[in-house]
This record gives sequence, structure tokens and C-alpha cells, in this order.
Amino acid sequence: MIRSSRSQEVFERNREFIPGGVSSLNRVAPPRLSFARGKGSRMWDVDGNEYIDYHAAFGPHLLGYACDEVVAAVRRVLDEGVELFGSGATELEGELAALLCRNIPELDRVVFLNSGSEATAQALRVARAYTGKDHVIVMQGGYNGWHNDVACNVMTPLADVGPRRARDEYPVLPISAGIPLEHRSLIHVVNYNDLESVEAVCRRYPVGALITEPVLQNIGVVKPQPGYLAGLRALSREHGFTLVFDEVKTGFRNGFGGYATVSGITPDLVVYGKAVASGYPLAVLGGRADIMGLFEERTPGKRVLLAGTYNAHPIVMAAALATLRLLLDPDRAIYAQLEARSQQLESGLRLLLPELGRPVTVTRSASAFGVYFMDHEPRDWHDILEHHDMALDEALRARLVEKGIYWFPLATKQVSISAAHSTADIEITLEQVRAAVGELARERQTVAG
Ligand SMILES: Cc1ncc(COP(=O)(O)O)c(C=O)c1O
Repeated sequence: MIRSSRSQEVFERNREFIPGGVSSLNRVAPPRLSFARGKGSRMWDVDGNEYIDYHAAFGPHLLGYACDEVVAAVRRVLDEGVELFGSGATELEGELAALLCRNIPELDRVVFLNSGSEATAQALRVARAYTGKDHVIVMQGGYNGWHNDVACNVMTPLADVGPRRARDEYPVLPISAGIPLEHRSLIHVVNYNDLESVEAVCRRYPVGALITEPVLQNIGVVKPQPGYLAGLRALSREHGFTLVFDEVKTGFRNGFGGYATVSGITPDLVVYGKAVASGYPLAVLGGRADIMGLFEERTPGKRVLLAGTYNAHPIVMAAALATLRLLLDPDRAIYAQLEARSQQLESGLRLLLPELGRPVTVTRSASAFGVYFMDHEPRDWHDILEHHDMALDEALRARLVEKGIYWFPLATKQVSISAAHSTADIEITLEQVRAAVGELARERQTVAG
């Protein structure tokens, strides 16, 4: 057992003033650890345990913790007194906007917000304003934030999801209380990789937007089947809805920009977050000039409100500029390095995990991994619910955390590599996977015998 008494104390102390002791419910999974420090591929908890990290704080740390260039850029802003003034434009925001729009074809214009949830909320608001239609399609097993339009049907148990539906929507199952019933009637949940259900919903309701992660990455890595994203693009033209790619997780993992570039499918709007600023609170909403133009529309009643005390905070702008310049730097070749490490991990996992005596499928999108104990690549959440061995998944994760390899200890959660992971880090990781698999396989045999 790892030492965790101080971690537990932090939870208990915090609980007196913070409900549950922690500021995001998504961060709670057993064993409840409290982390104190991170550098490169490593992080340390308050009891002094060291981990090689594959969680990346749910995605932002593509460059690893406390990347020197990012930290230096933030320090410069602080030292030079570049404060938040809340009046007028700043040079930093213009610089970042130009860097993004000049390098990412799907961006004519961008706006800066503080979190992925804010940005997906604004994306849906501007999409509704543009189309004049209020209904929205979301994906079963997709996560797009915590607001009323999207806080539903992420990791819903099979008993609640019910039988698979074809050419149909699923009931909206909110992951939060307090979402008005009336509001739920505007939201339609369909399976990912299912174009026929999107079409069926569009025939029944005035759909103004469809929002999806182009690769589902909150339930591991579930990839689009050939033709799926192109099919969404065609349906959006046929039925007049705005196609929104939520690239909060996929963004900057596959290359500069999002999965849109990899797939060759251009959405109308795109949202980035997480990796774009290496863990500083930034989200970017961007896309077509005519839609984004609604943020500066002069006709009364047509303008979409863009406001926020902290929008485009200079510390965050500086962190993003430093991050993106590194990603673009040909001498650093960050994507080539990430690909080499990712292949090393992938082939090791494919070799070692079958020793558990269960079918295993490892999916990978660039430096993001899904590990499923089932005999095929999942096509959607329903498929995972029906076939994946969740208990074995959690047992493996718990064992790895004990051994100093931090895979987020909740079944199906994505495993991510950063540019700070070295060949030696991956070798150590694979040794620990081998040990964990051996222990679990022996225990399973004992139970079976
Ligand atoms: C794909 C996706 N969209 C949106 C969000 C919401 O972002 P935030 O937590 O920054 O509000 C997340 C967060 O995990 C996400 O993974």
C-alpha cells in the first residue's frame, strides 16, 4: 500500500469548507490522493510518493509539467507588470489570435475564454443565433462541459442507457441536478458513429447545432469510423445545423491544430482548451468569419454577448504563445518525439496486456490511448458498456498507481503521454505494467482454481 495519510488529511481538512473537499467532482477517484508538485513526466503527492504521470491533469500537459519555456514566459509577464486591465485590447491577445488563425485553416476568427465549458456554451449560443434553431445534438459518451446543454450521458451505466437504439435518440440523462426539464427537451442524445440517428433527429426537430469530440476521448479513445465525420459534414449542410468540433482534448495532440486537420473535415466552429496553454486556464472558440462575426454584429438583437473579466488574461496568453511556438518549432520536433514514445508504449502494452488472459484492445490517437478488455475497437459507449471488463480495468489501474504509474484510477479514462516522457520513463512504465499484469493474472488463477 502506498503512504496516503497526508493525502487523506488534506481531503478531510478541506471538506469542512469545500463540499467533498475538492473543487471538481471529476478529480475524485480512489485512492484519494492530494498532489503537491509536478515537473516533466513526474508528479509527487503530499506524502512524498513519486509517479510517472499518464493523466496529464485530464489533458493539458502535452509538454509535461512546468515546461521551462512556458514558466519563463509567465514569469516575464509577472516581472514586467503586464497586468489584467479590463479595458481595451492587448497586444498579447492579438498575437495569439494571429498565430492560431495563420496556422490553422479552419480558423478565420477566434475568441478567448477561460475554460472548455465556457467555450462550448458560447459555441452553442452563437450556433443557435446563426441558425435561428434551438435544438442541439450531443453524443452518448461524449463530454463537452458542465453547462445545461451538454451535462448528460457521459459514462451512464447500461441499466440507465437501456437497449441500443437505431435511427433514434436516447433519453437525456443529466449528470447534474438542477437542469430545467424544459431545457432537456432541446437536447438530443445519439450514439457516436451513427449517422442514421442524427438524420432521424434532424427530421423531427429544428436542429441548430451538433457538437462532438471528433474522437471521443473522455471514455478512452473511440475513433470515428471511415466516412463518419464526412457524413456529419454532409448532414449539417443538408439540414442546416452548425457543426461544432469540440477539440478540447484532441486539440494539439495530433499536430498543430485539431483532429479536423487529420480528418480533412472542416467544422463550422471549433473549440480548443487544455493543451493549448499547457495547463493555464484558456479555451479558444474559433471558426467561420460569418458565424464568429455575430460577436460584433451591430443590428440590435443579433449580437451574441462576449464578455468575461478574465478573458485573454495576460498570464494565460503568454503561456499559450510559449506553448504554441514550441509546438511549431521544427528544431524541437515535438510531434516526432511524441510519436516515437507513443509507439514504444503501444507496442509494449500490446505485448504485455494479453497475459491477463482476457481479450485486449489498445486504441491510440497520437499520444492519447484507450485500453479496453474486449475483442474489438469500441465504436461507441454502448459497445464499451456491453463488452469491456470495467472491473479488470480498474484493478489494473489501482495496481499501477501503487507502483508509481499514474493512470487515472477510473475505468476507460484516457492514458496520455507528454513530450517530457523519455524512453527510460516508458521502459520503467512497461516493467511496472508487466509486474501488475503478473500479479493480477496469478490472483485471477487462484480465484478460478
Ligand atoms: C472534450 C471536452 N470538452 C469540454 C470540456 C470542458 O472543459 P473544462 O473542464 O475546461 O470546462 C472537457 C473537459 O474535460 C473535455 O474533455
